[in-house]
Amino acid sequence: MLSRRETILTALKAAAGFGLASASPLGTLLAGTAAADEASPLAGLRYGAAVRDVPLAVEPEFRAAIARHCRQIVGEGGLKWFDIRPTREQFVYDSPDKQMAFATANGMTLRGHTLVWYGAMPDWTKTIASASDAERLLVGHIEAVMGRYRGRIKSWDVINEAIPDDPASRSDIRPSIWQQRLGEAHLALALRTAARVDPDAQLVINEYDVEFVGDRYRRRREAFLRLIRDLKLRNVPLHAVGLQGHLRGDLAIDREGVAAFTAECRAMGLAVLVTELDVIDDKLPGPPDVRDILVAAKAYEFLDAVRAGSPIDSILTWGITDRHTWVPTYFRRTDGLPNRPLPLDAGYRVKPLARVIAHFLRDRR
Ligand code: XIL
Repeated sequence: MLSRRETILTALKAAAGFGLASASPLGTLLAGTAAADEASPLAGLRYGAAVRDVPLAVEPEFRAAIARHCRQIVGEGGLKWFDIRPTREQFVYDSPDKQMAFATANGMTLRGHTLVWYGAMPDWTKTIASASDAERLLVGHIEAVMGRYRGRIKSWDVINEAIPDDPASRSDIRPSIWQQRLGEAHLALALRTAARVDPDAQLVINEYDVEFVGDRYRRRREAFLRLIRDLKLRNVPLHAVGLQGHLRGDLAIDREGVAAFTAECRAMGLAVLVTELDVIDDKLPGPPDVRDILVAAKAYEFLDAVRAGSPIDSILTWGITDRHTWVPTYFRRTDGLPNRPLPLDAGYRVKPLARVIAHFLRDRR
């Protein structure tokens, strides 16, 4: 067995190989051991996590961890079309209502995710046959859902993942029923409707895979920025950019690219949020100690780049504990070891990632 110090040094060397600057406070953040009763480094900060309905309902430890570490939550599901609109006529609010009740009871806020997304669409939406039908449904949906939580959900991912996986040009928009029936105008329509329904809500455009080194990620950043600029130029209400931050542990962060991107957003008067942070660790070395450090170092590399261009409004992780995470569904490890993408381990102990997140929020209470 390596000593803890040796483990950390080995991991840091590997992290440096991924492009991390050597002079950083990271070493201090990574040192120290976790205990289940460790005071939360995150409490009181602008930190939040995505919640799943089942553990929220049946697992007291999950509820306690969320209450202890978070100031905001977001549903991993619940407000998606698939969940809320099983049929054209129905609106099912059980899940978001429960999330809202939990948030309120614990002095937290609930973020809204999401109104316009190509994913998690119920099958019946394929029958949306005309532009006028699409417009009526989209506007009606936003009016009903945002209207129900008006003044209570203060920040909404109005638009999620509008940029194609690999955009063919800067003006490329991801296919969806809305894009098919209404063209790019559906994005402005959604934002304008959202602003009309709740003029005080923070309206966010949310995106993933914009942070790594590589042509595809650069093209995605450029297409995302083209869209944001265009919306701002046309005075479409938009207040913030959400970087999901599903980081690949094995990919380098494009520090200059990310910093330039967030600086441009800031220059346009937009806030920058990290909305779905986790570190996908399927390709990282196995030993949990080493992996936890590499995961934390990757998040540091990312958050440091984001902050080089703009203050970070808040940080949410996509889940809070390695016990409940979407990562193994898509990125299961081949060695059979469980994934460790989140700030708390499966036993709810604080991991180095939690301290890294806290470090980037401390100047913003
Ligand atoms: C994921 C959830 O975590 C899963 O539980 C669900 O099955 C599919 O959706 N980007 C997003 C999130 O914006 O909505 C996705 O959430 C993860 C990727």
